[in-house]
Amino acid sequence: MVAQLLGLAFLYLTTSLATFTANATKINQIGQVVYKDSRVYGVVNRAVILECGSTLPDHYIWIFKKPGTDRVIAVAYDIGKGPRVTTLSQTLGQLSVISNSASVSIERLNVAAHGLFVCQATYDKEPEPELIFYNVHLVVRVPIRNPELSISDVSPVEGSTVQMRCNLENGTGPIVYKWQHESSVGDITDFAQGNSSTINVTNVNRNHTGRYRCVASNAVNSESSKWVKLETIFGPDVPQIQVTPHSVTGRGYSALERDTVFLLCQAQSHPPSQYVWFYNKSQVFTGPNYNITNILRIHTGEYTCLAHNTYLNTRSRKTISLTVYYPPDGSPSCSAEPALNHTSLRLFCSWSGGFPSPSVHWTGDLIDAGHEQANTRQQANPLTSAVILLPSGGRTSSSFTCTGSHLALRQTAECRTRSYIPPAEPVCVAYVTNNKQYLMLTCSWDGGAPKALVWWEGPGGNGAGENSNILILRYGTATRGKPYTCHAKHPLLNQTKTCRLTLEAPVLLTQRRIVSVYEGSDVQLTCNLRDNYLPANEITWFNNQGLSVQDTFKYRLLRTSTWVNLTVRDTEQVQDSGEYRCTTSNAVGGTEINVTLVVKRHPMPPNATVVRVAYNSRYRNEVDVEWKMESEEEGGWTGFWLEHRWVSERPGRRGSSNGSKEQMEERITYPVWYRDIIQDPRVMSHTVGNLTWTGTYEFRIRPVNHRTIGHPSAAKTPAEPRFNIYPAVVGAAIGGMLFAAILTMLLLVYIIRNRNNNPRLHDLLFGSQHSQSRENINLPEDDGGSEGGIEEIGGSSSPAPALALPRAASPLTTSPPSATPSAPTTSQAPPTGDDDEPVSVTITVKATGP
Ligand SMILES: *[C@@H]1O[C@H](CO)[C@@H](O)[C@H](O)[C@H]1NC(C)=O
Ligand SMILES: *[C@@H]1O[C@H](CO)[C@@H](O)[C@H](O)[C@H]1NC(C)=O
Ligand SMILES: *[C@@H]1O[C@H](CO)[C@@H](O)[C@H](O)[C@H]1NC(C)=O
Ligand SMILES: *[C@@H]1O[C@H](CO)[C@@H](O)[C@H](O)[C@H]1NC(C)=O
Ligand SMILES: *[C@@H]1O[C@H](CO)[C@@H](O)[C@H](O)[C@H]1NC(C)=O
Ligand SMILES: *[C@@H]1O[C@H](CO)[C@@H](O)[C@H](O)[C@H]1NC(C)=O
Ligand SMILES: *[C@@H]1O[C@H](CO)[C@@H](O)[C@H](O)[C@H]1NC(C)=O
Repeated sequence: MVAQLLGLAFLYLTTSLATFTANATKINQIGQVVYKDSRVYGVVNRAVILECGSTLPDHYIWIFKKPGTDRVIAVAYDIGKGPRVTTLSQTLGQLSVISNSASVSIERLNVAAHGLFVCQATYDKEPEPELIFYNVHLVVRVPIRNPELSISDVSPVEGSTVQMRCNLENGTGPIVYKWQHESSVGDITDFAQGNSSTINVTNVNRNHTGRYRCVASNAVNSESSKWVKLETIFGPDVPQIQVTPHSVTGRGYSALERDTVFLLCQAQSHPPSQYVWFYNKSQVFTGPNYNITNILRIHTGEYTCLAHNTYLNTRSRKTISLTVYYPPDGSPSCSAEPALNHTSLRLFCSWSGGFPSPSVHWTGDLIDAGHEQANTRQQANPLTSAVILLPSGGRTSSSFTCTGSHLALRQTAECRTRSYIPPAEPVCVAYVTNNKQYLMLTCSWDGGAPKALVWWEGPGGNGAGENSNILILRYGTATRGKPYTCHAKHPLLNQTKTCRLTLEAPVLLTQRRIVSVYEGSDVQLTCNLRDNYLPANEITWFNNQGLSVQDTFKYRLLRTSTWVNLTVRDTEQVQDSGEYRCTTSNAVGGTEINVTLVVKRHPMPPNATVVRVAYNSRYRNEVDVEWKMESEEEGGWTGFWLEHRWVSERPGRRGSSNGSKEQMEERITYPVWYRDIIQDPRVMSHTVGNLTWTGTYEFRIRPVNHRTIGHPSAAKTPAEPRFNIYPAVVGAAIGGMLFAAILTMLLLVYIIRNRNNNPRLHDLLFGSQHSQSRENINLPEDDGGSEGGIEEIGGSSSPAPALALPRAASPLTTSPPSATPSAPTTSQAPPTGDDDEPVSVTITVKATGP
């Protein structure tokens, strides 16, 4: 009965299963059949329990229908003989029936168990047995296993697209994929999620570098893939250059000379860049760190870092400009110059050679008002200045200090300058050019710092231009009597200083318009300018012949800028008397002045008388003469000429001297006066020697007043001696005397003829004409009163010319009477070459008597 029932059921099942699956919840009751549906989830290899009612049925059968097939298999049943499991069920897992129930457990569930299990259970109940169909839908799930991430390109270039795929070995859906990124620093982020196993990462950048994995999840489990590394290839970016020490200016980087400069180049790149350094376009270094030790000014220029990504063969570069600062040379130099029309000073402080320009600033006697401190830094011009305006009442001297600093120097350097007013007043000078073409007026105000400004202003207001210290006028065009003014201006002095030149025609003065002197003296004629005319005038003397006077033997000119004194030497009445003329002229006129020179003879000395004349021995060769003055006028005479001459042969001696007859006649024919010159006015007696004992002489005396020779006295013949004279002695004396006289004459003639060849001897005999004495000048009016002029002239150390003998004040020496005819030459020996040797010449001068 049960078997039949089961058979029916099976039949039913096979015939109506199609409709059953379609309509699972409620089954039409055919008799007492009930249908119950349920769904059970299982996981592969694990266990699952499929239930079949809560109570144990009397009979049951489990059947399995694999989806998609028509095949139905029975897996377990109990038809009253205990539960049984079919062998076919082995394909679904380890199936067993749970005791005291109709439920089955499947362990080690197989994927093949996925499908519809039906438990057909019958319960023997009264009145009708109950049949229940338990339809259990078993869903077998597979856990996710071994997700694996694959990336289309693990070294993508920045900007490209990368495809990522998450591959699973097993796993039932639905599956959710999560994409994770671990950055280089270890942060893990979920950057995508979805049910697709593939994602595209577009526009990859360097931030995408890191590790990736995918996490796949389904209803059973969640699994992560292994990390996969991705490195973005990029770069190089534009390099960054780091300069140490860091000093940035408007023009780039700067460094101080002799520092060490570190240049570091960094460019973002993967793989890392290679670096090359260039200086002014030429390669200098390879590598990121370029160090320049002891950098010099010549290292100024452009430094370029080139970064090279060898993988991509891409390059980038960056250039910086590096300026090496260096200090200026030495120390600053200062100067002060006039500015603003010499009303102020401009101070210059120059300190060149450094880069950049050093900064300088001025301190010192600066006056705040209106001073402008120059911009020091900005100018490339090494000259830096400050202008200082000086208000009135400034000081005479100011000093300024310029302090300079430079960033390449630890210490400051300074210089000083001083400004001061010239210590003296301005000086105006006029002079004439050599050819008398121009008159030049110069003005100087020297000795100040800076130099003062000078300029001329003429009478008509015509100047010589700014800052011209010379005014040039054509000779003769200058204005007379009106001042030419020189103005001088110094920046430290508020006022203008002046000096003036007024051009005047010269006026000449002389001490005496008429000068009279006694003959033989030197006389000085003076001629001087009334004022110190400018320019200096040339003064010219003309003598009494109208000839321009030169400095000669006769004339001596003493000259200064303002006077010329003319000394006429050894005046003579005829030759030197007359009108002398002194002239001068300058750019504005000329003048002259006449001086009359009167040369006078000295007054006649008083008369003298011979009071005694006598032989002093029986040899008759010496005569003593005495005389006296007729009037005792003081200063009336200066000496005497004691003259004697042969008068006749002594009576009775003629016969014994036949041989000299001619000579005797000569003496008679030419009664020559021999002269002894006595220069002492106090001497009133004299012995004349060297006489011939046979002769008869007469003697006379002539007083002399300088060159004026007085009247001769009456001649007197000496009284005869009172003793005998031996004729032989007399004869010999006569012969010697004659011989000496002739020789003397010859010598004189010789000397006079050869006076040019032997001037010294000439001078010696006739008197040197040089006189250094300065004579007083005597007006004619002074004549009577003062004797000074006469005294002076007479007392001159200069011997009386021509006739005077130097130092021959003593009476003439005579040859001894015993002299042989050849002996007398001793007295005429010419002077030797030795100038210093005092020469004593004894000579007898012959002169024709008046
Ligand atoms: C999935 O799992 C089942 C059960 O373990 C196995 O039989 C099958 O080979 C697996 N499939 C794959 C693709 O690995
Ligand atoms: C990813 O990119 C590939 C190729 O460009 C394309 O075929 C694919 O459809 C993309 N996938 C997604 C999810 O966009
Ligand atoms: C990479 O990440 C940094 C920091 O988050 C960001 O500043 C930068 O812009 C990113 N770069 C790119 C190319 O996206
Ligand atoms: C490098 O270039 C700078 C200007 O860019 C120039 O002043 C400097 O003299 C150059 N140096 C050399 C060594 O050529
Ligand atoms: C400079 O000063 C002088 C005298 O003070 C004046 O005559 C002249 O005009 C001035 N020049 C200027 C340019 O100011
Ligand atoms: C020349 O004469 C002047 C006067 O005109 C006088 O002052 C001066 O002293 C004289 N010089 C000499 C050297 O005598
Ligand atoms: C001096 O002598 C001369 C001539 O013998 C005579 O003429 C003159 O009168 C005399 N003088 C005096 C002052 O006796």
